[in-house]
Amino acid sequence: MEVRLNRTLADAKALETAVAAGRRAAFLCVHCHGEDGNSPLDHVPNLAGQNALYLLTQIDKFGDGRRQDEFMSGLVKVLKPEDRFNMAVFYAVQPVRPTPGKDARLQQQGKAHYARACVGCHGAQARGSREIARLAGQQPTYIRNALVGYRAGSGLRSDHRMTGVSRKLSDPEIAALAAYLSAMP
Ligand code: HEC
Ligand code: HEC
Repeated sequence: MEVRLNRTLADAKALETAVAAGRRAAFLCVHCHGEDGNSPLDHVPNLAGQNALYLLTQIDKFGDGRRQDEFMSGLVKVLKPEDRFNMAVFYAVQPVRPTPGKDARLQQQGKAHYARACVGCHGAQARGSREIARLAGQQPTYIRNALVGYRAGSGLRSDHRMTGVSRKLSDPEIAALAAYLSAMP
């Protein structure tokens, strides 16, 4: 799958075809994730600019129960493999619109926590890679919920790397990280 993704992203003609098909298939998602993958709802993640392999991995996780959400878990079961692939490509190439920061001090604290605990996997620009999520420009409430979800270990989100990391985070640290990351371009 990764080989096919890389080939599509590197070939202008194949990319154009996949993006057009992905945009058509994404009509089911507009209501919550927005026309271009920038969500109008702060608990719903932006898909714009997200790594394509990460998006496909998460769709699989909703499908087989490793990740749970009341709505998404049911929805992904009706998505055909070809539509999943094309939608992931479509969203990955849309530009993400960050949330302007309101509290510079909080963002500064978030920056320090990020450099200490997250940069090794999510990268200096917080764009992740492959199955590691992009965090830059993500919705702040969603980032907070995701971190609380990993930390709680309730099965809503599960990943051995993020479970270990999130267990060491306090609520104020999570708030600072969300403020910093959501404002990043
Ligand atoms: C009714 C609202 C709704 C609709 C419609 C919807 N989603 Fe979602 N989606 C959500 C919510 C809420 C979450 C976050 C769930 C959570 O907190 O784990 C989510 C999460 C996701 C994620 C995980 C993103 C990440 O950063 O981890 C992907 C991928 C996704 N949706 C794809 C889609 C696709 C593709 C469609 C259309 C076929 C779609 N969604 C339609 C509400 C929706
Ligand atoms: C050892 C590598 C690693 C480290 C360190 C790490 N992450 Fe992650 N992170 C991942 C992986 C892998 C995923 C995807 C997990 C999954 O499939 O649910 C992820 C997912 C996430 C998500 C969910 C994104 C989404 O769109 O749903 C958030 C939020 C997140 N990480 C924040 C952080 C923060 C904040 C830190 C530092 C405190 C951090 N991560 C440190 C590897 C890491």
